[in-house]
Amino acid sequence: MKFSPVRSKDRFLVFGSPALGDAEIEAVVKTMKSGWLGTGPKAAEFEADMKAYKGASHAVAVNSCTAALHLSILAAGIGPGDEVITTPMTFCATVNTIIHAGATPVLADVDPVTMNIDPREVERRITPRTRAIIPVHFAGRACDMDALCAIAARHKLIIIEDCAHAIETEHKGRKAGTIGDFGCLSFYVTKNVVTGEGGMVLARNEEQAARIKVLALHGMSKDAWKRFGDDGYKHYYVQEAGFKYNMMDLQAVIGIEQLRRVNGNWKRREAVWRRYGEELSKLALALPADPEPDTRHAYHLYSVMIDNERCGISRDDFLNAMTRHGIGVGVHYLSIPEHPYYQKTYGWNPEDYPHAKRIGRQTVSIPISAKLTDADVGDVIEAIRRVLAR
Ligand SMILES: Cc1ncc(COP(=O)(O)O)c(C=O)c1O
Repeated sequence: MKFSPVRSKDRFLVFGSPALGDAEIEAVVKTMKSGWLGTGPKAAEFEADMKAYKGASHAVAVNSCTAALHLSILAAGIGPGDEVITTPMTFCATVNTIIHAGATPVLADVDPVTMNIDPREVERRITPRTRAIIPVHFAGRACDMDALCAIAARHKLIIIEDCAHAIETEHKGRKAGTIGDFGCLSFYVTKNVVTGEGGMVLARNEEQAARIKVLALHGMSKDAWKRFGDDGYKHYYVQEAGFKYNMMDLQAVIGIEQLRRVNGNWKRREAVWRRYGEELSKLALALPADPEPDTRHAYHLYSVMIDNERCGISRDDFLNAMTRHGIGVGVHYLSIPEHPYYQKTYGWNPEDYPHAKRIGRQTVSIPISAKLTDADVGDVIEAIRRVLAR
C-alpha cells in the first residue's frame, strides 16, 4: 500500500515555530527606519519590562542564554579550581559555560519523574571545591528550589538558575530566576518569548549586575553605547577584557511585543498540553508528569518517552516516522555524558547517570508552540497513533 502522510511535505509542521504577530513585524520595521539598530533605548526598555514581569532586582539583556550563563558564572567570581554542579539533562551550553569560565563541571543525576536535578544527588557531589549549583527548570517544570536553596545555604554555594525553558515558571509563588542569585533566560527562536537570538541575566546584587553589563560590551565603561547619541561624543574606557554579548534594539523590540502576549501564549500551550494528555494517555508511550502543586509549569516542551519494548518501535525510528508524516520533532536531550568531548575530557560515562541516560535515549519532544491550531494538534496526535499502530 502506498504511504500516505498525515501532512504533506509542503505542509510540514516545523518544530518550535514561534507565535509572531504583526506587532513584532511592525516594531522591527520601525526600528530599522529609526536608524538605531544596535544596543540602545529599546534594549533598556525590554530589560525594564522583564524586570517588572519577573519581579527581579536587576536585569541585563544579552545576546543569548549562553552569554547570560557565562557572565553570571564570571560575576559570581567562579574560575579555575572551582567546581560547579549541574544536570546531565540539559543543553550543552549549560556545561560549556562552566568550562569557558575556567571551572570544572560536575554532574548530578536527575529525578526520573520530574527530569530535574535531584537535590540528593547534588549533595552527594559536593566537595570542598564546590562553589555553585546550576539547576535547569527542565521543560519549564520548577526544580525543587526549597531543597536546593537549603543545600546552597548549608554549603555556602551560589545558585544560578538556567531558565532557558522557564519564562513563566513559578515555585511556591516565586518566579524562576529570582529564587537563586542569578537567573538566565533564553529568547532563542523556539523559546516561549523569542527575539531570534537573545538572553537576559536576572541578578539580585547590584554590583554583580553592573559588572555583567560592562562584561557584555567588551568591558567598556557603563553606558558606552550612548557614545553615538545626540548629547555629544563620549569617550569610553575599557575596565576589563569583556565580551561581545550585547543585545541589539532590533532584537529587543521583538521581545517587548512577545512579553506583552506572554500569558495568552502560555494559556494556549496549557490547552495543547491538556489535549495531548487526554488523547495520548490511551497509547503505549509515556507522558510527562502533571505539574507539581504550588508551581506554575511554563509548558515549554512536551516530551513523550518511547520505550522500544512497550511501544514496539525504537526512539530513533519513531523520530523518523513522525518526520515522514510531516511532523517536526526534537530530542531534549541526549544526556550530557553521551557526548564524546565530555567523555574524553572528564571521563564521564552515561551509565553513571542512569535516569538521564534512559530519558535521553527515550525522549521525543512533540510540537507545543502557541502558534499551533487545533487542526495542527490533531495532526500530531494522528501521526503518533499511526506510527504506534504500525
Ligand atoms: C537548558 C538550556 N540552557 C541554555 C540554553 C542556551 O540558550 P541560548 O541558545 O539562548 O544560548 C538552551 C538553549 O536551547 C537551553 O535549552
